[in-house]
Amino acid sequence: MTRTAMIALDLSSPGAPVSPRIFGTFVEHMGRCVYEGIYEPTHPTADAAGFRGDIRDLVRGLGATIVRYPGGNFVSGYRWEDGVGPREERPRRLDAAWHSTESNAVGLHEFASWAESVGLELMEAVNLGTRGPAEAAQLLEYANHPSGTALSDWRRSNGREAPFGIRVWCLGNEMDGPWQIGHKTADEYGRIAAETARLMRFIDPDVELVIAGSSNHEMPTFGTWERTVLTHTADLVDHISVHAYYEEHDGDTASFLASSVGLDAYLEEVAGIIDEVRAERGITRPIGISVDEWNVWNQTRWNEVDKPAVFSGDWPEAPRLIEDEYTALDAVVVGSLLISLVSHADRVSMANLAQLVNVIAPIRCEPGGAAWRQPTYFPFADAAHHARGRVVVPVIESAAVDTARYGTVPTIASVATLEEDRLALFAVNRGLTEPQEVSFTAPGRVVAAHVLAGPDGDIRATNGPEAELVAPRELAIASAGGTHTFTLPPVSWACVRVELDSPAGDAL
Ligand code: AHR
Repeated sequence: MTRTAMIALDLSSPGAPVSPRIFGTFVEHMGRCVYEGIYEPTHPTADAAGFRGDIRDLVRGLGATIVRYPGGNFVSGYRWEDGVGPREERPRRLDAAWHSTESNAVGLHEFASWAESVGLELMEAVNLGTRGPAEAAQLLEYANHPSGTALSDWRRSNGREAPFGIRVWCLGNEMDGPWQIGHKTADEYGRIAAETARLMRFIDPDVELVIAGSSNHEMPTFGTWERTVLTHTADLVDHISVHAYYEEHDGDTASFLASSVGLDAYLEEVAGIIDEVRAERGITRPIGISVDEWNVWNQTRWNEVDKPAVFSGDWPEAPRLIEDEYTALDAVVVGSLLISLVSHADRVSMANLAQLVNVIAPIRCEPGGAAWRQPTYFPFADAAHHARGRVVVPVIESAAVDTARYGTVPTIASVATLEEDRLALFAVNRGLTEPQEVSFTAPGRVVAAHVLAGPDGDIRATNGPEAELVAPRELAIASAGGTHTFTLPPVSWACVRVELDSPAGDAL
């Protein structure tokens, strides 16, 4: 039986501007993300610098805006100097974070040029695991100082005359995690991050700094970690990070489909802590939430099966690590997480889908062979290309689903954005069995509408080098008197774009 859901949009007073940086991505020196991913000099499509042309095209199509680099856990043992200068002189190093060998064939210069070529702003992480304020400041001087000092002239002699001009810097990565190289208590990290931030601001007052929040919502230190590190740094930083990975536990698909309810709560709790610390310390500068790692990831399999095998083996270059094969179901969960991020545009300043190629990625490829889009590519591309202007958080009346993890949740999740006369509406049907008829009112003409669901309702369908079985298809819309109605199949994502008859609200 088809149920009907109403999505009520108040177009007269849209909410916060949606930062384009919410549609960021992440490239780590891990597995085959860099090597055999974006970079493969022997691939038939490789350019003169060794970067794959087919991957470049897919990255452009994804529409991401900013890229976090070079880690992740990797950065906590990384010496940035190893990756600059003549390639033949660069050292090979053990990467203790991923039990791999790092060739350093790609470093700051190569990656920054690649990022520029695909229109990605570079967001650089510094090592606060094995290193500290001095090395972070040296990297900043190397990257951003125009000339006339040993470090800036070293950059110039390495072929980059103009500064890289990197604005956004992450102060370490997941320092609360016992798995992290150089793991610290909240006070230890808060102090070193504060001193690093102070020194980096002396060198370049325009940098935007991200303090590392918890590695996930379930960390035993969640909350006290945020409060402590912000107490040390709230006057020095612009963002605090949130990392959030979701998976299907023990076949509980209903709860998995409701993962965004968990993300909503996580974001709201972090926002509350930011407000508390700012009030206590009398800080007037805003502090955004940088969700700089998020995705679906089968972490149970990684921790229980793959990681023990990887860490007891040898030290390969570019091994196949966490190359999760995503399904239509995963894509719908990714879509609902995007809805959560956009709905919190008033607090979320940045977000990075982790990662970009091969490693829990929307893009996969084979060495010397094909590249293809995983199902999760499509909702991300929709949002990255069309969520523009201000957010419109709807009031939704829909059926509900019972879940073991999150209680009873609405079957339909949705958010819209409004820019001048362009409205984009995103929606998911979390229901496992029933289609949902959905209506919303926005006087105007539907200019595009499509839906993503498993072929013939197969929510476990995946894509591969031979076929992209899970891909968007056209969505039929019935429009009358400014109300638009469509049917969402079970476990589906939709993107509907409307050209309004007249621009609405204060988003003009
Ligand atoms: O994205 C994979 C890993 O997940 C990152 O290196 C780390 O920061 C997180 O735990």
